[in-house]
Amino acid sequence: MLLITGANGQLGKAVVEQCLRQGIPFYPVTKSELDITCASSVNRLVSEQKFNCIINCAAYTAVDAAETDVANAYTVNAFGPWVLASTGVPIIHVSTDYVFDGTAVSPYETNDLTRPLSVYGLSKRAGEVSLLEGQFNGAIIRTAWVYSKAAESRNFFNTISKLASERDSLRVVSDQTGAPTRVEDLALALLSLYKQGSHKQPMHIVHFTNAGQCSWYDFACEIVKTTGSSCSVIPITTADYPAKAVRPAYSVLSLKSLEPYGVKPRFWLDALSDE
Ligand SMILES: NC(=O)c1ccc[n+]([C@@H]2O[C@H](COP(=O)([O-])OP(=O)(O)OC[C@H]3O[C@@H](n4cnc5c(N)ncnc54)[C@H](OP(=O)(O)O)[C@@H]3O)[C@@H](O)[C@H]2O)c1
Repeated sequence: MLLITGANGQLGKAVVEQCLRQGIPFYPVTKSELDITCASSVNRLVSEQKFNCIINCAAYTAVDAAETDVANAYTVNAFGPWVLASTGVPIIHVSTDYVFDGTAVSPYETNDLTRPLSVYGLSKRAGEVSLLEGQFNGAIIRTAWVYSKAAESRNFFNTISKLASERDSLRVVSDQTGAPTRVEDLALALLSLYKQGSHKQPMHIVHFTNAGQCSWYDFACEIVKTTGSSCSVIPITTADYPAKAVRPAYSVLSLKSLEPYGVKPRFWLDALSDE
């Protein structure tokens, strides 16, 4: 039985949906059903039910809020994964491109030096370290720029789609480059890794995003096209749009680590144009 934490989040819902489609036995828990930072609750659940793997979709994901909510970000993103893994159940944990500083000029390999620029990135890296140094079994899947077309989901796709229907023009940063990742594709990849037993191996890092790269501006232009809106998209620089948290200017992840698993991500524009 697969335990899915954070089951009510963007990724958690997609993993639940895929388990249903594929007939994979699973036990989903939302934050109100299981707080991953509460060791006694986690240990109780794991002693009551027999799980062969945990897919951890729970996280503190408010990147700007984390700058001033440091303790909570660290508790959920660093302590939480460690609490889950300490049960002895192998874990597939999700991490982020924001562990890198964005100074690279070619895609980041899994073993490249990390250097987070934000509290969110630091807390996610601390979560990776807690798993890598804890000598647990499992896999850490770094991903980036995750979006869903599900209406209730808060993400870049839905924000731009909504604004495009309300405004004549939008200003979007064009000097940050990454790889948009459709959440359904990420969920499929996580389950492919699970079915291939990645969680039974010593803790290792794998990268998954959709293939290709673009800027937030390019991504916004393509989203606006899909809405059929006549809203114009104006490129701006990061300096024109100050945010609390610093983002990496370049955070494309090398996808070589997927090759042993035979997972081939589709091009980001194909994923975007899919219903
Ligand atoms: N979204 C992206 O662009 C992106 C990019 C790179 C990596 N990632 C990583 O991908 C993973 C999934 O992200 P997502 O987009 O699905 O985020 P999300 O929609 O914010 O989902 C996270 C879920 O975790 C829950 N949660 C928060 N604290 C918890 C706790 N203490 N115990 C249990 N559940 C808790 C949240 O509940 P509440 O909403 O009720 O707080 C929410 O349901 C995360 O590890 C994230 O760091 C995301």
